[in-house]
Amino acid sequence: MNTSDNKATLSFSDGSPSVEFPIYKGTVGPDVIDIRKLYAGTGKFTYDPGFMSTASCNSSITYIDGDKGELQYRGYPIEQLAVNADFMESCYLLLNGELPNNVQKQEFVDTVTKHTMVHEQMQFFFRGFRRDAHPMSVLVGTVGALASFYHDSLDINDAKQREISAIRLIAKMPTLVAMAYKYSMGQPFMYPRNDLSYSANFMRMMFGNPCEEYKVNDVLVRALDRILILHADHEQNASTSTVRLAGSSGANPFACIAAGIACLWGPAHGGANEAALTMLKEIGSVDNIPAFIEQVKDKNSSVKLMGFGHRVYKNFDPRAKLMRETCYEVLEELGLQDDPLFKLAMELEKIALNDEYFVSRKLYPNVDFYSGIVQSALGIPVSLFTGIFAMARTIGWIAQWNEMIADPEQKIGRPRQLFVGSTVRDVKPLDQR
Ligand code: SDX
Repeated sequence: MNTSDNKATLSFSDGSPSVEFPIYKGTVGPDVIDIRKLYAGTGKFTYDPGFMSTASCNSSITYIDGDKGELQYRGYPIEQLAVNADFMESCYLLLNGELPNNVQKQEFVDTVTKHTMVHEQMQFFFRGFRRDAHPMSVLVGTVGALASFYHDSLDINDAKQREISAIRLIAKMPTLVAMAYKYSMGQPFMYPRNDLSYSANFMRMMFGNPCEEYKVNDVLVRALDRILILHADHEQNASTSTVRLAGSSGANPFACIAAGIACLWGPAHGGANEAALTMLKEIGSVDNIPAFIEQVKDKNSSVKLMGFGHRVYKNFDPRAKLMRETCYEVLEELGLQDDPLFKLAMELEKIALNDEYFVSRKLYPNVDFYSGIVQSALGIPVSLFTGIFAMARTIGWIAQWNEMIADPEQKIGRPRQLFVGSTVRDVKPLDQR
C-alpha cells in the first residue's frame, strides 16, 4: 500500500491538541486512515461496532465494489472465473495469486486428490453425534479434530507445513461434508475416488452407494463446481475475520477453520441459504408474497427477507446473478423448469426490487437467495447448504489466514471497548446483601 500525501487531522472541540494520521491508498477501493497511534496520542479509542468503517488488514486476495456490484479474486472478475475456470483453478489462484497453467493445474489437482481420504479413525467421531445432528455441528467438531491427526503440519511458522495443512483442508472438506450427510442418512460412507474430479468426487461420495456404479452427470457436476467458485472467498466477511482473529493468536489452521465454520453457521451469514429456502417454503405460493413482504416491513416483527441485503453490496450481488443462471441451467437439465420454488423466488425478487422499502435500503438478492434452490435441485438437503458453503469457503479462509501469518504488520487481534458498566464498588458479605 502507498502512503498518500494526504493526512487526516483530528481536532477536538474541547481544545485538546489536534492529531494527524497518515492516509494510505490501495490499488483500488477506499483509502484508509491509519489510526494505530490514536490511543497513544489522545487516550481515546475509535468506536465501530460491526466494523462498518474499519479495515482490519491489508489484503491482495479479493476485491469487492459494493456500489458497482463487482467481485474479483486476485483481479479476475467472478463472471469470467465462473465461465473460464473451475474450482481447482480458483483454489490455486486464491492460494498463489496467479491462475495455473496446465502443468501447474495437473500437479495441484493430483496433490489435492491424493489427500481426499481422512484417517480411518475419523469415522468414530461421527458415531457420537445423533443422526439428526445439524451437519454444521458435525463439521465444527470433525474439522477441529483433524488437528489431532496431523501433528506434523501444525507449525504455522513453517511455510511448508502451512502448505500441507492447506492441501489437507481443501482435500478433506468434501469427504467430511459427504460423511456428515451419509451419517445422517444411515448409509455407508463412500471413499473418495482418485479418478474423479474434485466436484464429481464429492457428488459420488454424497449420492453414490457401494451397491452400484455412480453415474456422473457432467451438468450437475459443473453446477456444483460453479457454486464452489462463487462461494470461495469474499474479502473480510464475518467468518473470514473469525479465522484471521483465531489465527492471530497462533492457533493451528484446523482450529482456525473450525472457528470459521462456527461463525458461518449463523443465519445472518452462511446460514442464510438454508434460511432463504425455508422462507420460500413457508411463503408457499406467489399469492402469499404481499402479506410476507408486509411482515418484513413491520418493525415489530423480526422477519427478514433471507437472501436479501448485504453489508457491502448496495447493488446486485454479482454471485446472485450467476447463481440464478446456474439455477436455470440445472432445472432445465432436470426438466424442472416449472420448479415452484424457483418461480416463487423470481416473483419475490421482482416484487421486492420494486418496493420502496427494499429500494430505499439498497437491499438486493445476495449469493444465498438462489443457492438453496439450485442445491435442492442437485439433491442436497437444506440442512447441508451451509456445509457446502463451508466446503467452498475453506480455500478463502486458508488464503486469508496464510496472508495474515505472512503479514509483518499483523499482531494478535485485541479490540478495546467503551465501558458503560458499574464503576468500582465493594463486595458486601452474603448476609449483608
Ligand atoms: C453472506 O459479508 C459478506 O461478504 C457475507 C457473504 C460472504 O460471501 O461471506 O456475502 C455471505 O453472509 C451474505 C448475507 C446473507 N444474509 C442474509 O441474507 C440474511 C438477511 N440479510 C440481513 O440480515 C442483512 O442484510 C445483512 C446481515 C446481510 C447485512 O446487514 P447490515 O449490513 O448490518 O445492514 P442492516 O441490518 O443495518 O440493514 C439496514 C436496514 C435495516 O433497516 P432500518 O433499521 O434501516 O430500518 O435494512 C434492513 C434492516 O432492518 N434490512 C433488511 C434486510 N437486510 C437489511 N430488512 C429486511 N430483510 C433483509 N434481508
